Amino acid sequence: MKATDNQKHGNPAFDSVWVNASLATMSGTAYGIIENGAVAIKSGKIAWVGSMAELEKLPDRGALVMHDAKGKWLTPGLIDCHTHLVYAGNRANEFAMRLEGKSYAEISKAGGGIASTMRAVRAASESELFAASEKRLHALLNEGVTSVEIKSGYGLDTENELKMLRVARNLGNAYSVSVYTTFLGAHAVPPEFAGKADDYINMLCNEMLPAVAREKLADAVDAYCENIAFSIEQVTKLFNAARRFGIPVKLHAGQLTDMGGAQLAASYQALSAEHLEHINEDGVSAMARAKTVAVLLPGAYYMLKEVQRPPVDLFRKHHVPVALATDCNPGTSPVCSLLLMLNMGCVLFGLTPEEALLGVTRSAAQALGVGAKVGTLEKGKDADLALWDIAHPSELSYHLGYNPCMGVVRHGKFINVRERLA
Ligand code: NIG
Ligand code: FE
Repeated sequence: MKATDNQKHGNPAFDSVWVNASLATMSGTAYGIIENGAVAIKSGKIAWVGSMAELEKLPDRGALVMHDAKGKWLTPGLIDCHTHLVYAGNRANEFAMRLEGKSYAEISKAGGGIASTMRAVRAASESELFAASEKRLHALLNEGVTSVEIKSGYGLDTENELKMLRVARNLGNAYSVSVYTTFLGAHAVPPEFAGKADDYINMLCNEMLPAVAREKLADAVDAYCENIAFSIEQVTKLFNAARRFGIPVKLHAGQLTDMGGAQLAASYQALSAEHLEHINEDGVSAMARAKTVAVLLPGAYYMLKEVQRPPVDLFRKHHVPVALATDCNPGTSPVCSLLLMLNMGCVLFGLTPEEALLGVTRSAAQALGVGAKVGTLEKGKDADLALWDIAHPSELSYHLGYNPCMGVVRHGKFINVRERLA
């Protein structure tokens, strides 16, 4: 396209067009590749996607801004659909204890684990919490992430859970990223309720959740269904309350033991069930019927030296979409690289590089309930893209500790990641 095309149009058809790009649209099969492609953007949305040859045939193809991708790859902006990235302090001491043979459950029962991060979060001011968390967000954004889910769950009282969710929302306002917040008050029983988990759940349903809903601070409600956390009955109570507020649910299920969490999640049409190393085929088929996405978290699997892999073959057999996420948290997964999760998803869980990339694009969008808005390069979706210096999209699963991201487009606006790093 020549400059004259722009001049001819007083009111150009597009705000910007990316030309000479290799596209992995992630819609259809085989990465949805369009070699020598173009993406046109209008009002922050994808207005047109196709080949350069098709673009040349469009009667009206003027644009205010032209970006020449010079053959580099464009994918949907990456989506990290499960993080606990708002937290204070760290738990390197517990990491050392685990290396010496203590288990995650033992440390948790002895007052460490989630409770130790709870103390750090309660002690942190809102601005301290923001400052600690934005560093981790930077790391994700520099690798092409344009949407991120952030959970509460280290406040464990009304004031501090609200504080965490506000910080998460504020991160979304301060940075070029869509933040989806999740209320995870049912992450652990706080010390004030020691031995009274049922009372804590009642308080969550009657006080905390209504406050969160009133301030519209949560896009979803999550819980930790595990023998060191909450039972099926307790989670059921919470999910009933979430349903009354019209907030969708998701569940940490089958991380350490199989308690039937996948079935429970499915029976509430959960957006997703997460971890899932310990689930059976019943759970998988229930998820398939409910269209609940399996969110796999190889960082936590790796850090806990878990040996049971999530049943990837069963997810394939039952056509359960599989997403991958960092689970960024100070205990089980101090991970701030979504690209690393692609590699681990392949090496540790046996995903193909294409499945891994779908797991941080199309399927991750579904896991957040925003599959109609983001996750693929298709007309009508948000213009959230990532630009990569790679020869093929399988490379995104291949490197470890190397970041080929050149920039992102968020809602149509280009951000040069490498300049930001300079
Ligand atoms: O996803 N499983 C529960 N929650 C986190 C761990 C949180 C923590 O240890 O701080 C997880 O692994
Ligand atoms: Fe988690």
